[in-house]
Amino acid sequence: MSEISKFFHVVTFGCQMNVHETEKIKGKLASLNMKETLDIKKADVVVFNTCCIREKAEDKAYNQIVKMKKLKEKNPNMIIVVCGCMPQQPKGKYNLKEKLPFVDVIVGTHNVNSIADHVKALLGERKRVYEIIEKPVASMDTPNCIRDDKYNAYVNIIYGCNKFCTYCIVPHVRGREQSRPAKEIYEEVKDLVQNKGYRFITLLGQNVNSYGKDLKSKMTFASLLESLCKIEGDFKIKFMTSHPMDFGEDLIKVMKNENKVAKALHLPVQSGSSKILFKMNRHYDIKHYMSLIKKVKRAIPEISLSTDIIVGFPGETEKDFNQTLKLLKKVKYDQVFAFMYSKRTGTPACEFADQIDEKVKNVRLNKLLRLQKIIEKDQNKKYFNKTYNCLIKFVNGVTMGITDGGKDIYIPNYKYKNENYFASVKVEEIRDHKLSGVIDE
Ligand code: SAH
Ligand code: SF4
Ligand code: F3S
Repeated sequence: MSEISKFFHVVTFGCQMNVHETEKIKGKLASLNMKETLDIKKADVVVFNTCCIREKAEDKAYNQIVKMKKLKEKNPNMIIVVCGCMPQQPKGKYNLKEKLPFVDVIVGTHNVNSIADHVKALLGERKRVYEIIEKPVASMDTPNCIRDDKYNAYVNIIYGCNKFCTYCIVPHVRGREQSRPAKEIYEEVKDLVQNKGYRFITLLGQNVNSYGKDLKSKMTFASLLESLCKIEGDFKIKFMTSHPMDFGEDLIKVMKNENKVAKALHLPVQSGSSKILFKMNRHYDIKHYMSLIKKVKRAIPEISLSTDIIVGFPGETEKDFNQTLKLLKKVKYDQVFAFMYSKRTGTPACEFADQIDEKVKNVRLNKLLRLQKIIEKDQNKKYFNKTYNCLIKFVNGVTMGITDGGKDIYIPNYKYKNENYFASVKVEEIRDHKLSGVIDE
């Protein structure tokens, strides 16, 4: 008989990168003969995988971790771990090491792999661990991660970022770009598709278009995608995030020609003003961005587009902001992720003199979101009477087809028993935001 297993609980903040890292952490803890519990009070080990992209993200994580003090008083044997981007910040808002003495293990982004080892050691002898290292030690990928989603699997292809946008903390907490060997990625995708039944593979990187630049081989992101499409099986590949500076014709060609590449693109623009883009150090202007959008739309008319926007970046005037609104009206994105600019200590924009008032940022954000809501409602009309290749899923007793862009199409009269396969779905009704359709046979 194996020894009585202990329970772990992981709380995740931040982007897909963190969501996937959590899946790896869970896999490692499970290999210590531990089981996951959804009840934090019952856990022997609680892990907080944190984010610090904006001040609010930091506050949210910190406030939750602080609450653990009481639980720990009740159960002193509980092991609390804080990892992810917050501890890796050189000058974070909170000094975690001093402010959270009841936390047992604090590690940064480069040594998530060591969490399980520390937990194992702590289960024997109690000793506080504070370990932040500057560079990745080895590949952080692990074959035994526990994935939360049964349809879509995240796969890392490149870590870190070399871009240094003036507002962004990511290069400071994730280090420089480091591509994963293509063979390793190929094997992982093949296994996920052929042995584990995943229909969507989402390739992850802060800037996937930089893939291969640091490798000896001549592999580019476009050629990596092409090679992954050769894997036999019924699946589609998505990727995020693309940087407009490196996004080029070769990739558009692969997206157009390969059936296995999902017809969806997340291309963060950040602002509609070239003046602001320059101050952000984005390395492109609106003319370049719009020419990319035009090329993509021409090559792949059914493409689903999404973007990220920052409002209230230092020096943003009403005129600059109106240019962003104009851009949204022109491109007509299917989805927009918009944020108020948040000062990040240690980044250049934090020191810019022309900071924008919080109230002004708020007004601009709401105005932008209102506009996008109208655009999205209008965009929904384009789905009517059209047929989309969708993944068929059962969600809470309802059958749905999911488009490449992540749009749900309800299938009320579904007469089959199986799911997790691709089928053509024709949209027959649009009511409010809800699309309904039938399987087109
Ligand atoms: N690597 C990706 C995404 C990075 S973070 C990219 O280059 O697009 C995700 C989004 O958070 C960014 O696209 C940006 O819109 C937003 N963001 C980053 N730093 C921010 C800050 N200091 N304040 C507000 N939003 C920020
Ligand atoms: Fe941040 Fe810019 Fe790198 Fe994206 S490309 S992670 S926004 S520095
Ligand atoms: Fe946040 Fe780190 Fe991702 S700062 S957005 S979790 S890379």
